[in-house]
Amino acid sequence: MEAFWNSVRPLFHPDPPGGAGAAAAERGIESADKAPDLCGPSGAVFAADPMALAGSKAHPLIAGTKVHLVTFGCQMNKYDSEMVAGLLGEHGAGFVPNEDDAELLVFNTCSVRGRAEDRVYGRLSYLKRRKSRDPGFLIAVMGCMAQKEGEQIAQRFPYVDLIVGTRQLHQFSSLLERVREGAPTPLLAIDESPKVEFGETVARRESRHMAYLTVTRGCNKRCTYCVVPYTRGPEASRPIEDVVAEARRLVNDGVVEIMLLGQTIDTYGYDLGRERANLTKLLRAMHAVEGLKRIRFITSHPEECQEDLWRAMSDLGDKVMPFVHMPAQSGSDRVLRRMARGYTRQRYTEVVEMARRFCPEVEIACDWIVGFCGESDADFEASVAMMEEIRFQSSYIFKYSPREGTPALNLEDDVPEEVKRARNQRLLDLQERISLEKNRAHVGRVEDVLAEGPSKTDPSRLTGRSRQHKLVHFPGGAELAGKIVPVRVTGATGLSLQGETVMGGRE
Ligand code: 5AD
Ligand code: SF4
Repeated sequence: MEAFWNSVRPLFHPDPPGGAGAAAAERGIESADKAPDLCGPSGAVFAADPMALAGSKAHPLIAGTKVHLVTFGCQMNKYDSEMVAGLLGEHGAGFVPNEDDAELLVFNTCSVRGRAEDRVYGRLSYLKRRKSRDPGFLIAVMGCMAQKEGEQIAQRFPYVDLIVGTRQLHQFSSLLERVREGAPTPLLAIDESPKVEFGETVARRESRHMAYLTVTRGCNKRCTYCVVPYTRGPEASRPIEDVVAEARRLVNDGVVEIMLLGQTIDTYGYDLGRERANLTKLLRAMHAVEGLKRIRFITSHPEECQEDLWRAMSDLGDKVMPFVHMPAQSGSDRVLRRMARGYTRQRYTEVVEMARRFCPEVEIACDWIVGFCGESDADFEASVAMMEEIRFQSSYIFKYSPREGTPALNLEDDVPEEVKRARNQRLLDLQERISLEKNRAHVGRVEDVLAEGPSKTDPSRLTGRSRQHKLVHFPGGAELAGKIVPVRVTGATGLSLQGETVMGGRE
């Protein structure tokens, strides 16, 4: 999936000390991600009392189990973790902040680059001793690696109890019951079931006021470097009524901002019939949800973005936020062709121009891959020039990592590691400069900031997000959490804005 991933250097959306990640870990749903995310900086985990949840659905084989869940990867994985945590919570499980206290340790995994996989293998090896000391301690692996590598994981780590692929997550708790009933382990659930269940998250979220909502699963593209189509299968969309129903539940639960998730969100609904469901229709339906104040959507694909999207964004601009995550991957047409991205640099630039024409406020975040097979110095310079020309708000930059089963394995991974590293650094430095310049231009302006909550390190300060998804720090009390607060910007770094609340509202 194209989204904000874990193994990138924490440059543009860092986890503030004691911020989202730490708060989440405290409640037992940890992000392995050192650089989360879009999800709200101070992001206290909102979790209703798990025992209060353990009502009629509490299951004797699950109730009271102490769980710790670690998420690798993108927002879509976070959503899945929240869904599984919600299921386990409903059945009476409790969540513990420290993995050493857990009776069930769950890894929600990512396959998009080798490093994310290696980290999970490392942690699984490390758990062997603990498992031999304490056979009642359960280990589960879910998500993309489970789907792709499930059988190898079962062979290499026979002491893992449960392996659940991307299309079986809604069965997680019944599979766990089977393990507890004595089913042979590792219990593998990785069939490529054609039916996609979306599940829902209400009870457990990383943030009280901001929620992710997955609207399509899978991907029908075949970018040659990418493993996602093979781990998550073909695209399947959730009907508009279902999305709206979940949005309503979330709003009742205190959510004011929803981020809609899809690998290529622009093709949302195509599998249901474009007339019936498409992104602009979905945005209009979400716009009508009472009490919902902000809507975002990721990830946009430059080949698929159409003018009607920007029109809708402009019409619905009071709620649909002017922020787009649209990965370019490269500025060189030769490389884009090898990646099978389906657009040229010129097309990308035209899409940006169109977006800016309809929504002058819009900010764009980008993903780049450096050192893809055959990337010459000239190709790389084209990416540098494009970054400079478009002036993205932020960028996630990745060194190409060959993935088994992808078409690019037939190409030679011929860019030396040092060259990949140097190119990575050059783009990071350039983006840092651009972000700083862009953020400085906001000094003196008043931004509407959704206050997420008090900063962990300094409770007299709040963190929040501006309409353009910039991170903003400002003084204020916990009573402002969940409110949209006018903040005058007084300072800027490449990573965030600082400001102070405007007394009496906007001037
Ligand atoms: N190597 C490096 N980066 C990759 N991405 C996806 N697959 C790979 C790979 N094999 C990056 C892309 C994508 C982001 C989520 O991860 O930039 O947009
Ligand atoms: Fe995104 Fe392409 Fe991967 Fe689909 S195949 S998730 S469009 S990078």
